[in-house]
Amino acid sequence: MQFSSLQTCVFLLALLCDTLTRARCLNFNYTAFPDNVDGTYFNRLNSGIAKGAIQVTYDLSGAIDNQSGRFLYKKQFRLWSGGNKASFNSTFVINISNKTNPGGEGLAFILTADDTLPEESYGQWLGIVNKNSNSNGTAKIVAVEFDTSKSYEQDLDDNHVGVDVSSIYSLRQESLTSYGIKLSSGLDYKVTVQYDSRNLTVFVSQTNETGKQMNLSLPLNLSDHLPEKVYLGFSASTGTNTQLNCVKSWYFNSSDIHENPNLLWVWIIIPAAAGVVLLAGVASYLYWRRHLEKELLEDAYPRIEEEIRSTSMAPKKFKLKELQRATGRFNPKNKLGKGGFGTVYKGLLGNKDIAVKRVSKNSRQGKQEFIAEVTTIGSLRHKNLVKLIGWCYESHELLIVYEFMPNGSLDRFLFGEGKLGEEMEEPTLGWQRRHTIISGVAQALDYLHNGCEKRVLHRDIKASNIMLDSDFNARLGDFGLARTLQQSEETHHSTKEIAGTPGYMAPETFLTARATVETDVYAFGVLVLEVVCGRRPGNQIEQNNYNNSIVYWLWDLYSRGRVLDAVDSRLEGDIDADDMVRVLTLGLACCHPNPHQRPSMRTVLKVLTREADPPFLPTERPAFVWPSMPPSFKEDTNSDLAGGRLTPFTEITGR
Ligand SMILES: *[C@@H]1O[C@H](CO)[C@@H](O)[C@H](O)[C@H]1NC(C)=O
Ligand SMILES: *[C@@H]1O[C@H](CO)[C@@H](O)[C@H](O)[C@H]1NC(C)=O
Ligand SMILES: *[C@@H]1O[C@H](CO)[C@@H](O)[C@H](O)[C@H]1NC(C)=O
Ligand SMILES: *[C@@H]1O[C@H](CO)[C@@H](O)[C@H](O)[C@H]1NC(C)=O
Ligand SMILES: *[C@@H]1O[C@H](CO)[C@@H](O)[C@H](O)[C@H]1NC(C)=O
Ligand SMILES: *[C@@H]1O[C@H](CO)[C@@H](O)[C@H](O)[C@H]1NC(C)=O
Ligand SMILES: *[C@@H]1O[C@H](CO)[C@@H](O)[C@H](O)[C@H]1NC(C)=O
Ligand SMILES: *[C@@H]1O[C@H](CO)[C@@H](O)[C@H](O)[C@H]1NC(C)=O
Ligand SMILES: *[C@@H]1O[C@H](CO)[C@@H](O)[C@H](O)[C@H]1NC(C)=O
Ligand SMILES: *[C@@H]1O[C@H](CO)[C@@H](O)[C@H](O)[C@H]1NC(C)=O
Ligand SMILES: *[C@@H]1O[C@H](CO)[C@@H](O)[C@H](O)[C@H]1NC(C)=O
Repeated sequence: MQFSSLQTCVFLLALLCDTLTRARCLNFNYTAFPDNVDGTYFNRLNSGIAKGAIQVTYDLSGAIDNQSGRFLYKKQFRLWSGGNKASFNSTFVINISNKTNPGGEGLAFILTADDTLPEESYGQWLGIVNKNSNSNGTAKIVAVEFDTSKSYEQDLDDNHVGVDVSSIYSLRQESLTSYGIKLSSGLDYKVTVQYDSRNLTVFVSQTNETGKQMNLSLPLNLSDHLPEKVYLGFSASTGTNTQLNCVKSWYFNSSDIHENPNLLWVWIIIPAAAGVVLLAGVASYLYWRRHLEKELLEDAYPRIEEEIRSTSMAPKKFKLKELQRATGRFNPKNKLGKGGFGTVYKGLLGNKDIAVKRVSKNSRQGKQEFIAEVTTIGSLRHKNLVKLIGWCYESHELLIVYEFMPNGSLDRFLFGEGKLGEEMEEPTLGWQRRHTIISGVAQALDYLHNGCEKRVLHRDIKASNIMLDSDFNARLGDFGLARTLQQSEETHHSTKEIAGTPGYMAPETFLTARATVETDVYAFGVLVLEVVCGRRPGNQIEQNNYNNSIVYWLWDLYSRGRVLDAVDSRLEGDIDADDMVRVLTLGLACCHPNPHQRPSMRTVLKVLTREADPPFLPTERPAFVWPSMPPSFKEDTNSDLAGGRLTPFTEITGR
């Protein structure tokens, strides 16, 4: 893309050079010269426009003795440039009528370097030269004369055409008498002057094209006698005898020439140089951009790869190409879902199905999530965690490869939401399956909190982050928000970045802005209620709309002894009342407003396996009291509250 635009640039530049060096050909066509003709293009030197014609030496006062005049086109005509020569054609109609007998001197079509009238060019000089400049090479002029007077010895007669170069003496002349043409007869004659850059040819004929046509042609190199740019026009003179010299129409056309072929370098070097400069510019810009981006990236994430590789069981690093091939270049058809931090695509690696999460580009957040996810989940192994197969960081693409979960995420089944647009009804999960799912998530969380080398807070437990394998076993996924805590640092059981999904966030989160083991338990409690009730958690951020929350709703039912009313109606009799009450009570206990009253995941597991009874739950939902002292939070609380560190809540969109 960049290359083609560069080509366009060079092309345009070349075109510009071309138009700059190409002289616009001169081209006009006056079929008549009415009195109101636009005269701005004409330079009248003792001449004018009157009686429908150009009047050379026409003096409205009447006295036209011993006069010379020129009538020139103001714009110059480029005759040649370097070795290039223009060609031209000019056709005009003349009408010369004598006012005396015999008449005046004559009329000429001229190409001249000089747009002034030579002094004392009246009489025999025809306004072309004067006695000083005649034949001495100083007058840069070429003329086609229509001579109506034999003024000197060299003149053929008083009715001839001649071609003059810097002189009044003609290089070649031809009498018109034998063609039935009398120049000063007051009749119209059509004249055509052609120059093909080698020969100059003149045709004279009757305007009605009858009779013979006179032609006169001679090889002539106008470049030898005239400057590059010349004026075009007519000149005429009178002496003691006078006449009217009229030009009634005038057409002129010329070919384009390139101004200066010696400036060929303009053609080649300037576009080439410009191209090189442009290329260099583009290249250095691209380099600079990449470099800057790389630097920025490296600043924010020093040694992204090292960081990932340093984790104990470093996952496999994939090549971007492999994953592009596997997902059909991230074909939208392969899209499995879209989350806050990226899009998940289905892929085929070898003969194994995979899920590839493509972290949104240019998202700083995204890159943090990426590292968090790869480093935490990558070093964990548990049957209820989504297995991370590998990762890729290439060309600004952040990709995470998981094993493929054929049944997708839990929320589809709970809330009956198929893929967007499809009104596909998912099969209802039976009670046994739901119980298994809850147990699975509990085991995964217990493993994260208590079972692995480093304590991990998931921080974003919710239905859409629970994946289901082919046997509908729960697999906890999306560790984008997960944070690792050193197990040994018992005092640091919390991490200080507010994150999560509205509806799953414990009430103290809004005050402490801290994620703790207990906030994970709270989110798990909400999930349990969801799974049993098949109902969305509601939004408890909107403080005045607290009752929307599944926790409040259920606790209300619980206090009225009608907790079973909450059970998903789709379960239709597939009910183990005792078990359900047990699980719902456990869920509510996890959602206890006071963090230190919530059970640990260990306890949760025991209740689920019936090794222990559900924790005691007050009938009325206890008020949320702060500060409450969760066991794992004691050390930090005071200083935090004294510092008044209440991070304003920012909503973080989950899936
Ligand atoms: C000049 O213009 C007239 C009128 O438009 C046209 O008839 C005539 O052919 C033109 N002359 C030339 C030589 O093109
Ligand atoms: C015109 O010029 C000629 C000589 O060049 C001179 O004899 C004559 O008197 C002049 N006529 C007028 C009217 O000035
Ligand atoms: C013009 O010249 C012709 C001869 O060519 C002559 O008969 C006529 O009288 C002259 N006209 C004038 C006004 O002198
Ligand atoms: C040529 O013409 C110029 C300008 O009229 C004049 O100054 C010069 O003397 C002339 N040279 C000759 C050799 O006649
Ligand atoms: C030629 O010009 C004269 C003077 O302007 C005019 O009287 C005459 O009619 C013209 N001839 C033609 C054929 O137009
Ligand atoms: C035109 O010029 C060429 C070369 O200068 C010459 O051979 C040819 O005869 C000329 N044609 C005419 C009609 O004069
Ligand atoms: C052409 O014009 C000439 C002079 O203008 C005239 O004598 C002749 O009769 C004309 N021929 C035709 C066919 O009109
Ligand atoms: C020029 O005139 C001569 C003699 O009249 C004729 O043989 C020739 O064909 C003419 N050439 C053109 C180009 O009209
Ligand atoms: C015509 O003039 C040009 C420019 O001065 C020159 O390069 C060329 O050789 C000349 N051609 C002839 C035939 O004299
Ligand atoms: C001039 O006229 C001739 C013959 O009609 C033609 O071949 C040539 O292209 C014309 N040149 C221009 C510049 O109009
Ligand atoms: C003028 O000359 C150019 C170049 O020879 C030619 O292409 C064009 O057709 C001519 N125009 C007319 C009106 O003859």
